[in-house]
Parts: sequence; structure tokens; C-alpha cells
Amino acid sequence: MLVSATEMMNKARDGHYAVGQFNINNLEWTKSILLTAQELQSPVILGVSEGAGKYMCGYTTIVGMVNGMINELGITVPVALHLDHGSYEGAKKCIEAGFSSIMFDGSHYPIAENIEKTKELVALAHSKGISVEAEVGAIGGEEDGVIGKGECADPAECKMIADLGVDILAAGIGNIHGVYPANWEGLSFETLAAVKEAVGDMPLVLHGGTGIPDDQITKAISLGVAKINVNTECQLVFAEATRKYIEAGKDQQGKGFDPRKLLAPGAEAIKAKVKEKMELFGSVGKA
Ligand code: 13P
Repeated sequence: MLVSATEMMNKARDGHYAVGQFNINNLEWTKSILLTAQELQSPVILGVSEGAGKYMCGYTTIVGMVNGMINELGITVPVALHLDHGSYEGAKKCIEAGFSSIMFDGSHYPIAENIEKTKELVALAHSKGISVEAEVGAIGGEEDGVIGKGECADPAECKMIADLGVDILAAGIGNIHGVYPANWEGLSFETLAAVKEAVGDMPLVLHGGTGIPDDQITKAISLGVAKINVNTECQLVFAEATRKYIEAGKDQQGKGFDPRKLLAPGAEAIKAKVKEKMELFGSVGKA
């Protein structure tokens, strides 16, 4: 059964580990992530971006697929199905479709409107037992057109958004989505400590988990990060494994590639990557 992220987040915060949010893009990824979570007895969050939602034929299709897999694969560990970087409309659709968690990213609205919409979505989501993640507006770290640091959140603004009743808070601490540039300065632990001080018990989220050195991940967890999002690293290993399979020419004697065999190495690569991350995040055995 799908569960909201609230309980797993609170447990992770208290137990000083983090739950991985692994974004899904198709059936193979979803199955790999669920099987690995079950094998390692780890709670898990399946992230769905709005783009991936469209690609996978809409939110109700995804809810059907994930619930079907949980049932067919005998998954008993806590699984949250979470909208990643949701718009106001997308969040409403996911609440309707049966997601168990949503992120509302309203930072591009004027602050009053962001607050208004966040409050409305929190009330709606909570009436259905769905958890809500919010992202705090960011201060860009851009200089001469080069992003060196990523965004750093204002702790006072974090407190204001946390007080709206959200369950999880994503605050920029120098993290960036995708592969980090060579001149990246690393995470700002000063910002993280200040945000933690401002928001107290609120579980914090680290976006852009790809490419952050292990010691910085561990330190961020020790300072209150309870959820870490990973997407690009899974994409990279999936693509690499698929490329190798094609290059090895393992087709069916000129009849082409069996799609099930073609995607199998990528699915295995995702399992290995998810295992590596769950071990690093400390969520193994915490189901
Ligand atoms: P990466 O693609 O950098 O791993 O970030 C994922 C993420 O934060 C999704 O919200």
C-alpha cells in the first residue's frame, strides 16, 4: 500500500538517516526501485516529475502501475508516490489521482500568492492523508554567467513556509540538479545549520543528489536532511548499460532487439545504483 511520506520522514529525522527519492521514468525503473527497497528492507519514495508524468501517460496511469506492482511483487516496505516539483495544477491532479505525497514548488509566484496556494494545497492534501513538500525561493549563486554555488535559501523564509503546515521542506544549500560544474563550491553547511535552527523539527530535503561527494551527503544527514533526491545518476547508469548492450550487438540474429532484453541491463544498473544510495543514506533495514 502507498503511504504518505510524513511518518518515514519523521523516523528518518529521529534516526539520523535519509530516505531516498528516486525519480521514475518508466515501468523498468519503477520495478527496479521497488524490488531493491524490498530486498534491502528500506522505505522509499518514488518521485514523478510533471514531464515524466506526461510521458508515462498521466498520473492515474502511474498510480495504477505502482499500486499494481506493489501488489504483484509483494512489496511490504513503506512506499510513497510523490510529485516532484509540482505546479499548483499538477499538485491538484496528483491529489485527485491517488498520489500519497506532493511537492508544490510555488517559488515563482509572488510571495503572497505562493503562501495562499501552499495553504490551500496543504489543507486539501492533509484532508486525504497526503504529505506536502515545499521548496523555498532561492538566492541564485550566479556570477559572470557561471553558476558556482547553486542556490542558498533564506532561513527566515524557510520558517515562514514551514509554518504553513507543510510536512517536508526543500531548502537550497548550494545544491544543483544534474551534474555539478567543475568549479562547484560544495554544500553550504552554514546555510543548512541556519535553516535547521529556524525550522526546528521539520524534516529537510536535499535535491540534486547526483554527484554530491559521500562525505557531504553524510554530513548533511547529520544536520537534519531526511530525504535525498536522485535522478540523473540513475539516468546515466541506465543509458550506459543500454548503450553497452546495443554495442555488444546482442540482437536476435538480424531480427532486431527484444525490448525486454534490451532494457534488462539498464534495469539491473538502476538496482545497483539504488542499493548503493540506500546504503549511503543509511535507510537499509529501516522499513
Ligand atoms: P539529480 O538529477 O541531480 O539527481 O536531482 C534530482 C532531484 O533533485 C529531483 O527533484
